[in-house]
Amino acid sequence: MKINLRLIIPDLAHVPSYVQALKEGHRCGGGAVATADHVLKIQAYPQAFLDELFAPKPPTWVNDKGEEFERVPQTTVWLVEGDTFIGDAKIRHRLNDRLLKSGGHIGYGVRPSMRRKGYATEMLRLCLIWARENLQLDRALLSCLEDNVASYRTMEKNGGQLIDITPHPLEEGKMQRRYWVPVPKA
Ligand SMILES: CC(C)(COP(=O)(O)OP(=O)(O)OC[C@H]1O[C@@H](n2cnc3c(N)ncnc32)[C@H](O)[C@@H]1OP(=O)(O)O)[C@@H](O)C(=O)NCCC(=O)NCCS
Repeated sequence: MKINLRLIIPDLAHVPSYVQALKEGHRCGGGAVATADHVLKIQAYPQAFLDELFAPKPPTWVNDKGEEFERVPQTTVWLVEGDTFIGDAKIRHRLNDRLLKSGGHIGYGVRPSMRRKGYATEMLRLCLIWARENLQLDRALLSCLEDNVASYRTMEKNGGQLIDITPHPLEEGKMQRRYWVPVPKA
């Protein structure tokens, strides 16, 4: 059992370990790997990185095809053990049409050196509790690529029920899975 694991709001004390994770190829919130320039910038200006993370964001965002989407409020959380950053998750506060189709409430990633040790399973459990306490959710929608076994096993190990396996609405030629994952009761 992992007894010293904590879900925290990103803080200065854990930025050095976060930077090491990025250098390992950590995919923030299950998204893209950070560029070398971005990593150097965080290392040089850790407070500016946190300020940017917490800064109010515009109500819409634009993808690389120039399409504009509503931005749903989200909270970034870090899974830590002592001073060590293990993984992170982005918790969307509600769904919109786009997140309903793909993305869902929660996206997560565990740093490469810490994978296959049960951390994502525990991080998702803690995120679900966070969502119950802060958003009053009783279930969360999650999605992943059809062949991302590690991700969908993490959902299933938290009681996730498969909704469907369909062509990915945003990534041509790929399939995705969607799950409803129940929030543990208080
Ligand atoms: C997905 C991810 C977060 C899983 O993290 P993890 O800490 O390794 O997961 P866990 O150790 O909690 O394992 C959860 C389950 O997945 C299985 N699993 C983990 N890695 C696996 C792999 N590479 N292949 C097959 N199964 C795998 C585990 O065995 C476990 O299932 P089991 O108990 O039935 O054996 C991690 O692989 C990751 O960060 N990947 C890149 C980002 C990503 O894909 N995020 C999700 C986007 S939707």
